[in-house]
Amino acid sequence: MNTSTPSGRDGFSTKFGIICAAAGSAIGLGNIWRFPYMAGEHGGGAFLMFYLIIILVLGIPIMLSEFIIGRRGQKNTFGTFRILAPGKAWWIIGVMGIVAAFVILAFYTTIAGWTLAYISKSVGNAFQGSSPEGISMIFDEFHKGTFWPLLWQFLFMLITVLIVFAGVKKGIEKYNKVLMPVLALLLVIIAIRSVTLPGSGAGLRFLFFPDFSQINARVIYAALGQAFFSLSVGMGAMITYGSYIGKKNNLASIATQVPLADTVIATLAGVAIFPAVFAFGLNPDAGPGLVFHVLPQVFLQMPGGYFISILFFILLAIAALTSAISILEVVVAFLMEEFKLSRVKSTIMASVSALFVGVFSTLSFGVLSHLAIGNLNFFGFLDFTASKVMLPLGGLLIVIFLGWVMKASEVKDELSNGGVLKVRLFNAFLFIIRFIAPVAISIIFLNSVGIL
Ligand code: PHE
Repeated sequence: MNTSTPSGRDGFSTKFGIICAAAGSAIGLGNIWRFPYMAGEHGGGAFLMFYLIIILVLGIPIMLSEFIIGRRGQKNTFGTFRILAPGKAWWIIGVMGIVAAFVILAFYTTIAGWTLAYISKSVGNAFQGSSPEGISMIFDEFHKGTFWPLLWQFLFMLITVLIVFAGVKKGIEKYNKVLMPVLALLLVIIAIRSVTLPGSGAGLRFLFFPDFSQINARVIYAALGQAFFSLSVGMGAMITYGSYIGKKNNLASIATQVPLADTVIATLAGVAIFPAVFAFGLNPDAGPGLVFHVLPQVFLQMPGGYFISILFFILLAIAALTSAISILEVVVAFLMEEFKLSRVKSTIMASVSALFVGVFSTLSFGVLSHLAIGNLNFFGFLDFTASKVMLPLGGLLIVIFLGWVMKASEVKDELSNGGVLKVRLFNAFLFIIRFIAPVAISIIFLNSVGIL
């Protein structure tokens, strides 16, 4: 099937390829590393409940909006707004998205580097015979270091860059197709071991039974940030990918399948982690190190755990890679199209500058831990700025743009592929985009800053 984009730009070749690439962007460290530790810090079940509601009511419509904007404008996240709203300042959304991409890439590569390090530790059987405390000590020693965390971070960025060099069709699409399903399967296997550990029931209760006394503005705000981060929405990653989607593909179906896959993986990660956390008597609110504390211990208790551990961290690194590619692509598409730079030059410029900031992120767990901003280290500050400020703000502006700036007829035209497809629930979609989403995001946002 030839679905190359009308503007002659590089694009995805098949529907399955598109879904894999978009799911590859969405599924990443956000699901397996960030979701469990956020849920752990925010009361478990209460967090999950709001997370699911937000994915359904805000996440899916915003992802769809991004696809519509990207495919309509046929450009990077900055250029697309200049095409769709000429002479207006809406391109600011694009600029914000590009800044957000830098911020996310900087701290994302820190954690992705940790996963590479854990491949190597798994191969070297570093956890053999360790108690839970021992495993925590291995993590502490490693992530507070200087040389190794930086080396792994650089290596991860290098691999990302090499794939982005290759371009959309050859690079991005190819790798996603096979690997995401394998990751899901492996998570199921790990989850089965986790829930069969003695004492694991408390973990399932923690994750699935909301403790209503835990619900507050902080929890809802964290769930909002996590949902946007996990779906890769709010900064134009899906606008950029949307611009590569062929005119014959059904945007609405992609924008429901991808969040569904993303949410299944996050929930599976929760089921793999929390039962084990409770079975081993660990703390669910251990922060960014949670999965690195818990999972090696689960692997020690599994037959074949040595290989499962290696395979798991390889797949996690690949999941991180397919997400990092989409983040980098936001900046690369922008530099290529707006400054007429080559793909190679754009990729090098973007990655080197993100890595520069990224070094500070990585070292903020160790030698630079005194560089605190409020009660956050530099890594935490970057994560906060991106997930809790830039993505929700970007998402807010994106729905306002789609709902109030673009014409409803134009939106419908794009959704129906020029009248070919039947568009179901169009009015409901428009109502959410025009009213529910902007109001909900604003309320959650303002509430958390303590203004309301
Ligand atoms: N969604 C990715 C993850 O879950 C991270 C990401 C955020 C990617 C924003 C692109 C844009 O790991």
